[in-house]
Amino acid sequence: MKDELKERLWQAASAARERAYAPYSRFSVGAALITRSGAIYAGCNVENASYGLTICAERNAVFQMVAAGEDQIAAILIAGPTEEFLVPCGACRQVIAEFASPETPVYMCDVGGNSRRSTMGELLPYRFSLNS
Ligand code: THU
Repeated sequence: MKDELKERLWQAASAARERAYAPYSRFSVGAALITRSGAIYAGCNVENASYGLTICAERNAVFQMVAAGEDQIAAILIAGPTEEFLVPCGACRQVIAEFASPETPVYMCDVGGNSRRSTMGELLPYRFSLNS
């Protein structure tokens, strides 16, 4: 992916991360994806006093995309608050995979914006699917 596009995803994910609602964990996450049509959707984690109702940033971004009428993820970037690269949790991998291909790039960023590139196929080689 071009550096310019990755930069746009980083900016969108960082802006969303600033809007994270994480008063319980104090762990703010942002995610941004670009669709095959070129639109960008972002999401942040939204926690709840009933902890298990929390939604991760990645799923929030995917649901924003679906609500806007799109379903094809070309690439996704995740911005975390730590010195480590923020890797998506298992539940989010399954949800991203629903709208991605095994080759879809996943950029996992540390707090400084350094990223590690992987793919959905690497992160979730066997997604659950009703078609196979
Ligand atoms: N979280 C995300 O938003 N994405 C991830 O990939 C991992 C975890 C959120 C959920 C919760 O609000 C906080 O980070 C701590 O787990």
